[in-house]
Amino acid sequence: MNRKEFIRNGCIACMGIAIGASVLQSCVSTKYTKGTRNENGILIDPKEFVTDKNTQRPYIIVRHDDLQYPVCVYNLGNGQYSALLMRCTHQGVELQASGDQLTCAAHGSEFDKWGKVTQSPAKEPLRTFPVTMTNRQLLIDLRKQT
Ligand code: FES
Repeated sequence: MNRKEFIRNGCIACMGIAIGASVLQSCVSTKYTKGTRNENGILIDPKEFVTDKNTQRPYIIVRHDDLQYPVCVYNLGNGQYSALLMRCTHQGVELQASGDQLTCAAHGSEFDKWGKVTQSPAKEPLRTFPVTMTNRQLLIDLRKQT
């Protein structure tokens, strides 16, 4: 192996380690919940946002049998939340949550935590649902999607 090959192989190995660490970190920090279905939508406990270290998660993902796609609920602070259907508006592929954005592996569209397109080819914003506090539970109101 010459010097050039050694450097190239070393860089590839480092990138693999960095990507692996990043994937593991995102898996550790992502919280999934099923929630509880009622006649208006899905209830989730706000405590689901609290980590074992008593910090706030930026988002949780709700997967319920009644939903064709999961819903990503972002904690916007000051008691505000956004709930976004994780369905890409380009061609309907399920999105991945990554920090403050949702990304589509199919063609690279990206959306912010309010559902606005930040990277095409998608042109339309994500479907969103109102989130309200009801009896100390967060209600994702599935009747009022936009
Ligand atoms: S389906 Fe998501 S970018 Fe094409």
